[in-house]
Amino acid sequence: MKIPALDLKKQIAPIRGELDSAIKEVIDHTGFILGERVERFERHVAQYCNVKYAVGVSNGTDALSLALLALGIKSGEGVICPAFTYYATAGAAAAIGAVPVFADIDKDTYNISAGSVRKILAGKNKVKIKAVIPVHLYGQCADMRGILKLAREYKLKVVEDAAQSFGAEFKGKKSGTLGDCGAVSFYPGKNLGAFGDAGCILTNNKGLAEKLRILRNQGNKSSYIHLFLGRNNRLDSLQAVVLDVKLKYLDVWNKKRMETAGFYNRKLAGLPLKTPFVADYTTHIYHQYVLRVQGQSKGLLEHLRRKGIDSRVFYPIPLHLQECFKYLGYKKGDLPESERAARQVLTLPIYPELSRQEKDYIIQSVKEYVNG
Ligand SMILES: Cc1ncc(COP(=O)(O)O)c(C=O)c1O
Repeated sequence: MKIPALDLKKQIAPIRGELDSAIKEVIDHTGFILGERVERFERHVAQYCNVKYAVGVSNGTDALSLALLALGIKSGEGVICPAFTYYATAGAAAAIGAVPVFADIDKDTYNISAGSVRKILAGKNKVKIKAVIPVHLYGQCADMRGILKLAREYKLKVVEDAAQSFGAEFKGKKSGTLGDCGAVSFYPGKNLGAFGDAGCILTNNKGLAEKLRILRNQGNKSSYIHLFLGRNNRLDSLQAVVLDVKLKYLDVWNKKRMETAGFYNRKLAGLPLKTPFVADYTTHIYHQYVLRVQGQSKGLLEHLRRKGIDSRVFYPIPLHLQECFKYLGYKKGDLPESERAARQVLTLPIYPELSRQEKDYIIQSVKEYVNG
């Protein structure tokens, strides 16, 4: 059997008619960038997230950079990021000249905690820290309560990286709506994915939303009147209409992921493997279903791949040890929980269209390895 990490053909097939007519309408209309279709999608996202404003942008990385820029983060200022996340979290901060300051993660949730952020703030830092980016990794929210409290105490801006958690809730509030801004990615492989790159920024702050709309469009206040040093970070309407069609199905898809996670948890109970820990303050939309093994994930990973199961490691090298961040001066051993997680995690496919037969095969293959 061959089981990919994600099968978008299976997701698209049942809604193909709707998608085709939405795309055709854009071609007939020819308003390809921003405009009414993007605005309609932004309204629907805002409604879905119960947030005042959603600003469509080019991708999740730009969403993070723009949010930091709009919040006034300047070159040389420190931005706390988890060491265990996708490159873009810290890359987006570095791209605007800010300095990533890496926090270690909680060993159970894989997210940064108030404790790890406080450790940095209370210590000696080479730069003045002005912001924190909690990442809601794999689809469950970081402990925002403690992080927001610290942010108030130290006057930090909070940009949630909700790239992997669109639809997850922290104590009943949608991820990305708790900090000053939330950055969302609609990369095709995300739970809500476009047919290309796309993203958005969530905020309840009117002034900030207005600034973000100007910044994403070359700093244009109105045609050829440039108020800020903006960028071209606009969302195009083909992506907006695709996302608008898919948004209606997101909760059903996320529910299926949750059911599959429950199934895997039950079937793997009692084995020497750590199944995902879900904290009581958050829901989990299982962008990834992540297992943790004692020692190293390599053996199980290779076994699953031999069996045709596209298991992955997100992420094999923590950011503080990446070549591109060498200039920041971190060394091995500095952030032990991130380093350990990088050695021990691996994913099982969890996309909504997986059949019962495929899930059984995945479990059987894991057990085969673990039980020798
Ligand atoms: C945690 C995290 N942050 C940021 C991004 C960047 O999003 P994008 O690929 O849309 O630029 C991604 C996804 O790729 C991500 O997983």
